[in-house]
Amino acid sequence: MRNVVVEVLLLISMVLLELSNAFAPSVSYEWVVSYSQRSVLGANKQIIVINDMFPGPILSATAGDIVNVNIFNHLTEPFLMTWNGLQMRKNSWQDGVRGTNCPILPGTNWTYRFQIKDQIGSYFYFPTLLLQKAAGGYGSIRVYSPELVQVPFPHPDGEFDILIGDWFYTDHRVMRASLDNGLSLATPDGILINGRGPEETFFAFQPGKTYRLRISNVGLKTSLNFRIQDHDMLLVETEGSYVQKHTYSSLDIHVGQSYSVLVTAKTDPVGIYRSYYIFASARFTNFYLSGIALIRYPNSPLDPVGPVPAAPEPWDYASSVQQALSIREDLDVGAARPNPQGSYHYGRVNVTRTLIFQNDVMTSSNKLRYTVNGVSFVFPETPLKLVDHFQLKNTIVPDMFPTYPSNKTPSFGTSVVDIRYKDFVHIVFENPLDELQSWHIDGYNFFVVGMGFGGWSESKRAGYNLVDAVSRSTIQVYPYSWVAILIAMDNQGMWNVRSQKAEQWYLGQELYLRVKGDGQEDPSNIPVQDECPIPENFIRCGRILQ
Ligand SMILES: *[C@@H]1O[C@H](CO)[C@@H](O)[C@H](O)[C@H]1NC(C)=O
Ligand SMILES: *[C@@H]1O[C@H](CO)[C@@H](O)[C@H](O)[C@H]1NC(C)=O
Repeated sequence: MRNVVVEVLLLISMVLLELSNAFAPSVSYEWVVSYSQRSVLGANKQIIVINDMFPGPILSATAGDIVNVNIFNHLTEPFLMTWNGLQMRKNSWQDGVRGTNCPILPGTNWTYRFQIKDQIGSYFYFPTLLLQKAAGGYGSIRVYSPELVQVPFPHPDGEFDILIGDWFYTDHRVMRASLDNGLSLATPDGILINGRGPEETFFAFQPGKTYRLRISNVGLKTSLNFRIQDHDMLLVETEGSYVQKHTYSSLDIHVGQSYSVLVTAKTDPVGIYRSYYIFASARFTNFYLSGIALIRYPNSPLDPVGPVPAAPEPWDYASSVQQALSIREDLDVGAARPNPQGSYHYGRVNVTRTLIFQNDVMTSSNKLRYTVNGVSFVFPETPLKLVDHFQLKNTIVPDMFPTYPSNKTPSFGTSVVDIRYKDFVHIVFENPLDELQSWHIDGYNFFVVGMGFGGWSESKRAGYNLVDAVSRSTIQVYPYSWVAILIAMDNQGMWNVRSQKAEQWYLGQELYLRVKGDGQEDPSNIPVQDECPIPENFIRCGRILQ
């Protein structure tokens, strides 16, 4: 009986959610993107600000909302923004990467318009063209649950967005030129926390209150270890998934990843008269760099006392892997949908296809380039999404890209993998190099079912977590290691798969998944919902004439 009631309630709330789409509330932002001369880490640099802010304003919305962001490009270069981790359901037209959109030209504006569906959590946005991320231009995204949907932890007393990332004194155009000339990025000059240097940012805690910290690594290349002196962190959310609640004294956050933790403020009289360090320090590097912020209690003295929170051993991969494996989906709760996540058993769905993506460095080129399965990505003059829409010939060559590592001589190409809508795909990321890799897929969250040292082989499947693997959109692949993910291809569009590491991405380590229906994909009765139409205001470029 109780189950029936629950089912009916679920059904009603689903119907309400569907209805609410028809009258979806909207949020609108007007953002002016411009240069500003600022002192960051004590050095003057021309950075990119949004409405004069660095980091940019918080984009805050509720699942179901239609989001309008009108971007005015006051730079002297073309501009695009992407929404790292937002799934842009069936709407890759708004994804803001070079393969989907023509750039917003200097002196013009363009309005992104998309609906946030079935998704909650912590994310960030950043500029995707011309290494502009090295100049800033990024900010936090918060997506709240609709009121109907329960959140699996007490409502926090406050929230803080914390963007951590490496920083370079050099102008982004100079950095870009050196990549163009075949040089690697240098060692960063420091680590920023919310755009500021050591002890320039503080968060005000009230005794006994609980805060939600939404932390993202917005840097170019450096994995960071995040920790707070004398305060534990209860991990609750990872890129839109509620996770099993474990307490951590420090968290490894790789480039492009986002986490939410709950932190409870002190109540003991000694504690509340002190200030505390927050550290974000470089991990797995030969250099020692830390971003430092402060937690202050009312009237606490400015300077923290006592030992700084201890960093993990710099090259201790084992503990980092162990931590990664401990991050698992909380099966008892729903995320944005009212139905429990546990009612979808990804482990019981048959895999229809396996792809293996191996990252590498191109050795045959006279300049530094990075590859996936031996192909270094080059952009056509027209974005792939438009090429596809206008059926332009000779740009996308079907099956050009090998979906397994190949022994062919590395080459340049415009890699597009055709995926049948509703396929259930198994992807293995292999990293044969001695540097940590970070992979991201736009438009999707995926289940991280396996992770291991060495090469991947069929026998590894036996060890997959088919029960409570975390579902997320960016995953690290340790040196000489592999990661296996499962992904339900339920989002039509042209989706960017990229290395989140700026240098690797800029120099060719990416590809696109073209997810399309062929009319055969759905033996069950789920209606096939069509992809969003091309937006009326789409920008023309390349072979799409004005
Ligand atoms: C540019 O901004 C104006 C003023 O807000 C707006 O009316 C117009 O729709 C915008 N253009 C585009 C292409 O979004
Ligand atoms: C998965 O495949 C097996 C063997 O081909 C089949 O018996 C089973 O019905 C399939 N399961 C689903 C959920 O499609």
